[in-house]
Amino acid sequence: MKETILVTGGAGYIGSHIVVELARAGYAPVVLDNFANSTPAVMSRLQALAGRPVPLVTADVRDAVALRSAFHDHPIAAVVHCAGLKAVGEAEGRPLAYYDVNVGGAIALAEVMGEAGVATLVFSSSATVYGQPDDLPVTEDAALRPHNVYGRTKRVVEDFLRDLAHANANWRIAILRYFNPAGAHSSGMLGEASRGRPNNLVPLLCKIAAGELAEVAIYGGDWPTPDGTGIRDYLHVQDLAEGHVAALSYLAAATGAITLNLGAGSGHSVLEVIAAFEASCGRKITRVMSPRRPGDVACYYADPARAEAILDWRAKRDLGTICADAWRWQKNGGRY
Ligand code: NAD
Ligand code: UD1
Repeated sequence: MKETILVTGGAGYIGSHIVVELARAGYAPVVLDNFANSTPAVMSRLQALAGRPVPLVTADVRDAVALRSAFHDHPIAAVVHCAGLKAVGEAEGRPLAYYDVNVGGAIALAEVMGEAGVATLVFSSSATVYGQPDDLPVTEDAALRPHNVYGRTKRVVEDFLRDLAHANANWRIAILRYFNPAGAHSSGMLGEASRGRPNNLVPLLCKIAAGELAEVAIYGGDWPTPDGTGIRDYLHVQDLAEGHVAALSYLAAATGAITLNLGAGSGHSVLEVIAAFEASCGRKITRVMSPRRPGDVACYYADPARAEAILDWRAKRDLGTICADAWRWQKNGGRY
């Protein structure tokens, strides 16, 4: 058995997949979550897929007292920090709440890790820190110009983590910039349990194919792309989870802070995603052309070369697999 890893936000969409991949790799994951955007019902699925008990700490990541107890009660060797708020639109109206949870939570966690002598941290950042990139594919050296509150909270945390590693050579930090995580666990037992109407494209297509929503509004058919619709780098959530296992293994023999893109390295347009989803579910997706969504960009996709070289990691699952797995999860109910 390898070390115990604390996964904050481990009951959420991405964290739950990370917990399963950690267990598969021989680690002992511990979940910390306050269920702000998830449910304790995920825990029994995690235990079943992990094939071992997965301890749960029900706590707010900003609560230093609760964090100290977690580090006291479990022999934590490293932390994967996924806990946070992620609704881009909501953040514009609630900036204080987003800075409090996303930045305040990371500060509280880093402080308690320092006290506990735990210096290995993997942080969930987002490609949204780039804003509209000048060049494609996007490398880690691209300018950081996030044009929303959510992205700015991620940039602040990235900055302070790099400062921390600079100030104290004990820290081993991997900052992972996710492109567009999508899909669900191949078992059909884990996935994104959206509350209300989903904002992201693939969860929305699931609800439309299931008859829960009528149609998808395509946000712009006049983008400067080959078919006029927006292009993104969709990354299967299990590939993303495997990237975290690879990052932990890299950090075991590294110091300092490293920043890496996690993306598939290729882009797909909205129309391509709809076509792939239709092929997976065997149903027609009704679509209407709508104006562009404020804050959207035309096209971006990752240059994942640095992650490939440093972590020996690459995305293995294609868009068809993303759609097929998302649809399997939806057919199983799409919720816990
Ligand atoms: P999610 O909402 O499904 O998971 C986040 C988890 O954190 C939830 O279980 C939630 O209950 C928990 N949480 C929220 N506030 C908390 C708090 N104060 N204390 C303890 N737990 C708290 O989101 P996700 O999609 O799994 O995202 C995980 C991380 O990855 C987030 O930091 C998000 O910003 C980042 N990210 C997500 C995407 C994406 O498209 N899903 C893209 C880039 C980055
Ligand atoms: C959104 C967030 C981004 C976040 C990312 C992953 C915004 C402006 N950006 O990015 O910060 O990091 O999710 O969580 O919210 N689309 C439609 N109709 C829809 C929904 C989406 O046409 O109903 C299009 C979008 O215009 C885009 C593509 O589908 O071209 C993907 O959209 P989405 O899944 O929301 O992700 P992003 O816009 O990349």
